Amino acid sequence: MTAKNILHMLTPHRHVSPFDVNMAADAGFDVIVPYENVTLDEVGDLVQDAMFSRPPHDGASTAIFFGGDDAVLALDMIDAAKKARVSPFGTHAFADPQGSFTTAAAMVACTEKVLKEKKNQDLKGTRIAVFGATGVVGYCAAVIAALEGAKVTLVGHSGLERVKARADEMKQRFGVDVAAVNGASDAEKADVLAETEVVFAAAKAGVRVLTTALLAGAPKLLAAADVNAVPPSGIEGIDVFDLGKEIAGTETHGIGALGIGALAIGNVKYQTESGLFKRMIASDEVLVLDFRDAFTLARTLVPDL
Ligand SMILES: NC(=O)c1ccc[n+]([C@@H]2O[C@H](COP(=O)([O-])OP(=O)(O)OC[C@H]3O[C@@H](n4cnc5c(N)ncnc54)[C@H](OP(=O)(O)O)[C@@H]3O)[C@@H](O)[C@H]2O)c1
Repeated sequence: MTAKNILHMLTPHRHVSPFDVNMAADAGFDVIVPYENVTLDEVGDLVQDAMFSRPPHDGASTAIFFGGDDAVLALDMIDAAKKARVSPFGTHAFADPQGSFTTAAAMVACTEKVLKEKKNQDLKGTRIAVFGATGVVGYCAAVIAALEGAKVTLVGHSGLERVKARADEMKQRFGVDVAAVNGASDAEKADVLAETEVVFAAAKAGVRVLTTALLAGAPKLLAAADVNAVPPSGIEGIDVFDLGKEIAGTETHGIGALGIGALAIGNVKYQTESGLFKRMIASDEVLVLDFRDAFTLARTLVPDL
């Protein structure tokens, strides 16, 4: 008899995300079980409990998903799950806290394609400013871009301290050097934009972080991506469906900056998360999937421009 595909969904919060439950069900899991208020030190026992109930060859029919809203905690939970494996037993492990790994992967992948095809520029060496960088999506987009060799600046809106702490954490965990600045006022944002080639806007839903007037004063701007789908948009002048469309008002410096909107990103995000769930169901080997795997897959899913 074929083993059922079982997904154990762990979150440190009171609820697992209904979005992720739906995605997992639509991807084809037979059984989905939520576990709430899970702490890091409980992960090992839960993984072993799931693992030892099935013969080793059915390990690849058992998957553990890590939610929440903290990228570092989710990665720590993945590490704890890996540590709990006892060969030849194992389970899949996949983290996507608040959808952030797949959303950030999609944002960076869409931007990379627009930059390459319309501005003939690689991510490597590109100056990227991340607004909303203390949030989980911004954090993750910053790490993905920095690992690709971009020169990333984390922009805070409540002082330097918190973004600087994030930058230090990225250095320690991923070995990447990213800058940190405060960018709360329009004057501070204009200073950041003076040297910026790409903007990632990942601030709280419904918060406008950049106006067209600010973008028009960004002489080196090539592209801007906005993940906020809740009006008003995070960046004025970018429609949610834009994928490489010129942002009106930025033509002052030749061909204008190109916009990437939240639903263009969301389309790739959706396929990426679904694709990673399906990959676990299809695989005969146990997999460990995080934002790096999400980015690799998202790159293949960005539609033609
Ligand atoms: N398109 C998609 O597929 C998709 C998928 C998932 C999420 N999203 C969107 O991605 C965005 C980020 O999500 P998240 O979970 O990382 O959000 P989050 O936890 O709410 O954090 C967002 C960031 O916004 C900052 N922020 C709050 N108020 C601000 C303001 N007035 N000005 C500038 N920055 C401000 C926060 O800074 P503090 O830490 O200082 O408060 C934090 O850095 C949201 O807009 C969300 O809706 C999109």
